[in-house]
Amino acid sequence: MNEQFSIKGKVAVITGAGGVLGGSIAGSFIEAGARVAALDIRPEQLEARVAELTAGGGEAIGIVGNVLDVASLEKVAADVVAKWGRVDILLNIAGGNTPGGTLAPDAEFFDMPVAEWEKVTNLNMNGTVYPSMVFGRVMARQKSGVIINVSSMAAYSAITRVPGYSAAKSAVANFTQWLATEMAMKYGEGVRVNAIAPGFFIGDQNRAVLINPDGSLTDRSKKVLAKTPMGRFGDIAELNGAVQFLCSPAAGFITGAVLPVDGGFSAFSGV
Ligand SMILES: NC(=O)c1ccc[n+]([C@@H]2O[C@H](COP(=O)([O-])OP(=O)(O)OC[C@H]3O[C@@H](n4cnc5c(N)ncnc54)[C@H](OP(=O)(O)O)[C@@H]3O)[C@@H](O)[C@H]2O)c1
Repeated sequence: MNEQFSIKGKVAVITGAGGVLGGSIAGSFIEAGARVAALDIRPEQLEARVAELTAGGGEAIGIVGNVLDVASLEKVAADVVAKWGRVDILLNIAGGNTPGGTLAPDAEFFDMPVAEWEKVTNLNMNGTVYPSMVFGRVMARQKSGVIINVSSMAAYSAITRVPGYSAAKSAVANFTQWLATEMAMKYGEGVRVNAIAPGFFIGDQNRAVLINPDGSLTDRSKKVLAKTPMGRFGDIAELNGAVQFLCSPAAGFITGAVLPVDGGFSAFSGV
């Protein structure tokens, strides 16, 4: 591959690497020759992921950690720096909607359980901010590094029934711009911060709302596809190239951007 797009040898910390998107991106990073520190909250899924990543000779380690616990993240950062000497890339992938964060079709917003709102906004907003504080410090001292956050279509315009997830993903988009500005102005152009905004991909978190048990599309799914000019769901692997590009020297003048990977969903008014 053209050197400009290479991430070979880079040290990448990937939160949520045990999950669907994180696993796919981690696999593509290994294929591209990066070294991967896979972070996730549950040891079982992490062990399976690391076995997969290292099966072909890739360099990967698994670290159990919680993106909402700054002390645990500081320990992870110290371990990664002790092993590989630096952190070049942070992918803040951990996040997602929570079952309690979705309002039932007939539920009223006024009755929304506050604890569920706090849970989903905490994971999606602070779960991006806290790792950025910890690993961003390492990058600022190195004067180089790239942070990639994950926003959502819910940040562009309203998606019904998921108020907390939507608010938090809007916050992620805004935080991406804020941190990009802060890093460039205080620590120089070597530290860049961008985000991707995935459209609709079938993952563990949304399968039940998009696909009926018999495999047919739900009504919600049909609405999504009607507003997606390409008329299909994304393939998880279609996020990999966008992330790698943003992490590579080819994106050297790109910071504070939120890149939709959405088959045109965010571009289309629906009319
Ligand atoms: N799938 C889509 O269509 C889509 C669209 C737009 C945006 N996204 C975003 O993409 C990201 C990944 O989505 P996904 O579908 O890959 O989700 P996923 O499969 O659930 O992966 C998320 C991973 O993060 C872990 N995690 C949860 N809380 C954590 C914590 N406090 N600390 C560390 N790890 C934690 C999860 O563990 P548990 O399984 O134990 O919770 C899971 O392994 C999310 O930010 C999501 O909002 C997804």
